[in-house]
Amino acid sequence: MSEQRTALVTGAGSGIGRAITLRFVREGVAVLAVDQNQAGLDETAALAGADAKIAGFVADVRGKEAPDAAVAEAVRRFGGLDFLINNAGIGAAKSAADTTDEDWDRYSDINLRAVFRFSRAALPHLKPGIGAIVNMASVFGLFGHPNVAPYAATKAGVVGLTIQMAADCGPNGVRVNAIAPGVIETPLTRARIDTDQRFNALNIDPIPFPRLGRPEDVANAAFFLCSDQASYINGHVLAVDGGWSVTNYSRRGAAL
Ligand SMILES: NC(=O)c1ccc[n+]([C@@H]2O[C@H](COP(=O)([O-])OP(=O)(O)OC[C@H]3O[C@@H](n4cnc5c(N)ncnc54)[C@H](O)[C@@H]3O)[C@@H](O)[C@H]2O)c1
Repeated sequence: MSEQRTALVTGAGSGIGRAITLRFVREGVAVLAVDQNQAGLDETAALAGADAKIAGFVADVRGKEAPDAAVAEAVRRFGGLDFLINNAGIGAAKSAADTTDEDWDRYSDINLRAVFRFSRAALPHLKPGIGAIVNMASVFGLFGHPNVAPYAATKAGVVGLTIQMAADCGPNGVRVNAIAPGVIETPLTRARIDTDQRFNALNIDPIPFPRLGRPEDVANAAFFLCSDQASYINGHVLAVDGGWSVTNYSRRGAAL
């Protein structure tokens, strides 16, 4: 990317959003880093270094004014907006039977409604031939899995929104894609990897690859999808999962 570009990254104070932010600023992209956690944003900015073009913006992505305010801040600070990375999200182990109406609303508001509202706010600024949106879905939005029904429903919604917006925005030269990570080692998953044998048996053992996913793996995919290298990729859902979703691998079976 030769010209100065600007990205807005939500959930930039931790895990995957932090890695995306650091990857983009390393490539010279100015980033408006949005998160509800001020301390997390401060840490991301410190890791980016003093020379990085980065500004923190503290907001709950559910806030009615948050999308317009964050987009306006990106434009005010950096003169425009080229990329939107809708990454902020929450998840926990819950089946549909265990899910309260309040749980459902919280997942929907953060994981899906905010993706729609930030996209709507950003669209008028995204330029033909350059502008791109990357939404963070999940392999659980594509494949059935026990105990993740409300989370997976929101991520399936993100996939649906992505492919429909690709059809709406593509004719204007703006691309909309999604990433479906498998298990990535972040604060969201670390505790379960350490303590939950069932989680490991279902999600870690069947990965046909010798290591877990890292936030940087997802950040690389996000940067690629925004770059000129992906200039004809629109409406794609890119799994970053070491092959978990397309194989029927069993570590135990392979060892027999
Ligand atoms: N880690 C994984 O294995 C994995 C797998 C598939 C998909 N994902 C998705 O990737 C995204 C990032 O996950 P992560 O693992 O980095 O999680 P994380 O918990 O490490 O980071 C999420 C960030 O989002 C912020 N956030 C949460 N709710 C917010 C709100 N209402 N307003 C503003 N900020 C908010 C948090 O403060 C945090 O900084 C999520 O959408 C998640 O569903 C993660």
